[in-house]
Amino acid sequence: METATTISAVRERVRRWRAEGRRIAFVPTMGNLHTGHVSLIEAARSHGERFVASIFVNPMQFGPNEDFAHYPRTPAQDARMLAEAGCNLMFMPEVAEIYPNGSERATRVAVPGLSDTLCGEFRPGHFEGVTTVVAKLFHIVEPDVAVFGEKDFQQLTIIRRMVTDLCMPVTLIGAPTVREADGLAMSSRNQYLTDDERRKAPLIHQTLSAAVERLRAADKDFAAIERVGTDSLERSGLRPDYFAVRRADDLGPPDADTRHFVVLTAARLGRARLIDNLQLAL
Ligand code: PAF
Repeated sequence: METATTISAVRERVRRWRAEGRRIAFVPTMGNLHTGHVSLIEAARSHGERFVASIFVNPMQFGPNEDFAHYPRTPAQDARMLAEAGCNLMFMPEVAEIYPNGSERATRVAVPGLSDTLCGEFRPGHFEGVTTVVAKLFHIVEPDVAVFGEKDFQQLTIIRRMVTDLCMPVTLIGAPTVREADGLAMSSRNQYLTDDERRKAPLIHQTLSAAVERLRAADKDFAAIERVGTDSLERSGLRPDYFAVRRADDLGPPDADTRHFVVLTAARLGRARLIDNLQLAL
């Protein structure tokens, strides 16, 4: 596996592969890789012939009181995991390489509406940071295919909209959420949990599953399903930002004709803010 820290080095490498007729698959990450990320690389392998992964903790997507400074950074371990997963090129830029004029006043890419609901309501500016950095990474790598985890369902929906609206020539693949044996979705932020919090955390998946079962049984009282989900998280000491039943295609409110649902939640547990979701197609 090669490592690049500059945009010009990535472009040079990728353009040579492209000249050889290779299909390029790309997995953007913020590092601190775990099995969930490896599954993204594995998904990328079935869609491309050369694999690029980026490791970049993007300051623009963190709010002033969020965990940018403390976000776990494990570059040596990440490089080892990527090499083992068959990655060909790891792009690990400094902040100044991506934001030469600083991230505060940089040109931005925004997807209004979709970015303002759910997590967007509680993390103002977060998705604008995500779409800006992903657009930049797409311009740098120019992948044929890019893979994102479905755990970040809203993020994936927003990036899909950006790619459509800006006519970006990239195919997006959503990779299923990878879970611990007790159902907890894998996340770098799980390591913020104390032992006691870690024991409570699987309740997020259990509560989402209970909501999905009600939808499967043709329960159309979406407000009641949301209320029960919120209450059950709160009763166990979690602090949900939201517990929402939405249409899976555009995150709008469902109605009696909706067939493809997603139930999403974000809940705080100690220092961690955990997100998860489950889809249901009837
Ligand atoms: O999902 C993430 O890890 C990040 O939001 C992403 C897509 C790498 C952009 O920084």
